Amino acid sequence: MPNQHNPWLDIPAADYEAHMSADAVGQQQALNGIFRDCYGRLQPKRLLVLGCATGNGFEHIDPRVTAHVAAVDINPHYLVDVTMRFARTLSGLEISCRDLADDGLPDGVFDQVHCALIFEYLDPAPLLAGIAAQLAPAGTVTAVLQVPGDHANVSPTEYASLRRLEPVMRLVAPAEFLEMVHTAGLRCVKHAEHELPNGKRFAELWLEHV
Ligand SMILES: C[S@@+](CC[C@H](N)C(=O)[O-])C[C@H]1O[C@@H](n2cnc3c(N)ncnc32)[C@H](O)[C@@H]1O
Repeated sequence: MPNQHNPWLDIPAADYEAHMSADAVGQQQALNGIFRDCYGRLQPKRLLVLGCATGNGFEHIDPRVTAHVAAVDINPHYLVDVTMRFARTLSGLEISCRDLADDGLPDGVFDQVHCALIFEYLDPAPLLAGIAAQLAPAGTVTAVLQVPGDHANVSPTEYASLRRLEPVMRLVAPAEFLEMVHTAGLRCVKHAEHELPNGKRFAELWLEHV
């Protein structure tokens, strides 16, 4: 069962989406484009999305290509939105409400594991080990990290509920992350950076088995 003290449980979906897509933030749009491009290149038969929130980018998933989409988040309300938006078009959608810190990953082997802005809220090393164990031999992890910099970790907007994340958010520098990637038996095969409207940067990392 999800940990009741996780501040993500106290952030309404409407606040989350309005904050992430605000013009000055632009994270929803940037993450949507990254997912579209990764998914389009990889064309996975079995896809796992960790920290899927309300399903940003799921409109790019082609059910003729992807038979199984496992979507994980700790917030059950976000997952209701994912179900309402995509269950009809994505016949292989499996929604899983769980705390990735305690409950592990859903069963299965996956060709793509997409993890965008989730390592900031969990200990990355055990999560990477779990992902590696369920990644298909030729599979790819597509990860997005918020690069540490001079900006506030949580961009200021009028949506005050998002500030609850400040005490629990820990940015991981890509170099530190890549050491953990190596320990998990994975290697980085692509590293790109994306600049957001407010100057924040996202690192997009593609990982494969060594
Ligand atoms: C910044 S949002 C992710 C953005 C999304 N991946 C995208 O591409 O638009 C982080 C998500 O991770 C979820 N999350 C945070 N901690 C979690 C945990 N311990 N287990 C499962 N989900 C978690 C939050 O509820 C939230 O939906």
